[in-house]
Amino acid sequence: MSNFIILKKKISQFNKTISISGDKSISIRWVLFASLGSGISKSKNLLMSDDVLAAINAIKKLGIKVKLNKNECKIYGRGFNGYKYKKNLSIDCKNSGTLGRLILGLLINSTSSIKVTGDKSLSKRDFKRISDPLSEFGAKFKLKNFKNLPLKMIGSENLTPIRYSENKGSAQCKSAVIFAGMRTTGTTIIKAKKSRNHTELLCQYLKLPVIIKNKKNYDEIRINKVKKIRAINYNIPSDISSSAFFIALTVLSDNSILIIKNVNINSSRTGIITILKNMGIKIYYKNKKIYKGERVADIKIMSAKSIKAVNCPTNINSKAIDEFLVIFLIAAKAKGVSYFKNLAELNHKESPRLDWGNKILNLMGIKTIKTKDSIKIYGNPNLHINKKIEIKNYLKDHRVFMTSVIAASTFGGNWKIFDKDSIKSSFPNFLKILNELKRQ
Ligand code: S3P
Repeated sequence: MSNFIILKKKISQFNKTISISGDKSISIRWVLFASLGSGISKSKNLLMSDDVLAAINAIKKLGIKVKLNKNECKIYGRGFNGYKYKKNLSIDCKNSGTLGRLILGLLINSTSSIKVTGDKSLSKRDFKRISDPLSEFGAKFKLKNFKNLPLKMIGSENLTPIRYSENKGSAQCKSAVIFAGMRTTGTTIIKAKKSRNHTELLCQYLKLPVIIKNKKNYDEIRINKVKKIRAINYNIPSDISSSAFFIALTVLSDNSILIIKNVNINSSRTGIITILKNMGIKIYYKNKKIYKGERVADIKIMSAKSIKAVNCPTNINSKAIDEFLVIFLIAAKAKGVSYFKNLAELNHKESPRLDWGNKILNLMGIKTIKTKDSIKIYGNPNLHINKKIEIKNYLKDHRVFMTSVIAASTFGGNWKIFDKDSIKSSFPNFLKILNELKRQ
């Protein structure tokens, strides 16, 4: 089967209700927490993507039994100290930064050496941001080029608590330190720049000795030694980051309406909604509820007749960090110049996404000014593409692929987009859902 897609036609108007697969961040965290639980944990709507399957394979290697049955997953936890550390243990985190970073915090009490590997993209990413704080607890690391995978870690049973300032707005760094802090006698204190807080919400739901104080510009998290984690049944809500592609599709299409059911709208994830509202786009929540500490709602989106340019406040950045590629597409159709700044973290994702966002816009004929951490986008409300565009060699970044597909489906042109299988890491159903909307 060819691993590229050719798109030559804009989508026609649609009016539909769809469901999107489970949230990736919550799915991976549920797998990890359940693996430490005492007894059987069950989940529904777990995201069945390569990143989550890599997490399942990781805990299987640690001696945890897992049963997958279509929409249901059962994890047979062996308790907080139940992992079996085999000799020469090697864990392949594939494309998943979340798994690669969080698992190191989970395994920090292992006294035998553990190797962590990843695919080409993950092997280019920064792991020093994790090995630095975990070394302070007492773990020892050997990293390729002092910062990359593959790495080897030897943990310790005598870890000391740390004080840690997380200043990148990285939930992965914060979460790795939370897991490590659970293994020490004494209190680990994190001063964390605001970022997604699914780990903290799970700790609170499980009544673990983790205390969170939400301050205006940062969160203070105090972690004490955990003795036991109970099993946890979870009905995973849909992923707002995956929904973002269909939100953009609707905004940029003509006369269309879309409802996306049961999406996680945790306020640490809804930067895209705030930004789009600032751009004058009609987007609403319906049927709001709270589930295990997480906010969930249906999202209703309508096509935009006109889009206002935005000067994006930097305090929204971490709340929209995975959505900027599609936000840039929407800015491409705005009236005026949009400005996004302090976005150096975007170039630390599965591919250098600030660079790729810029490249896609330029290929579409949109003028931009990019620096190493900012981009100005000169919107064109009448944008219609009439040329051939090829997207390839982007480190198989799933979000680059899906953004290109949305651009092709809304702005026209003749697109050849390589590495179709990249969607398997976060959103295997992406093309199936798109085709259902096209069939309307
Ligand atoms: C994630 C945190 C973010 C995000 C990633 C998922 C998580 O990464 O970009 O897709 O589940 O904790 P950083 O921690 O690098 O910001």
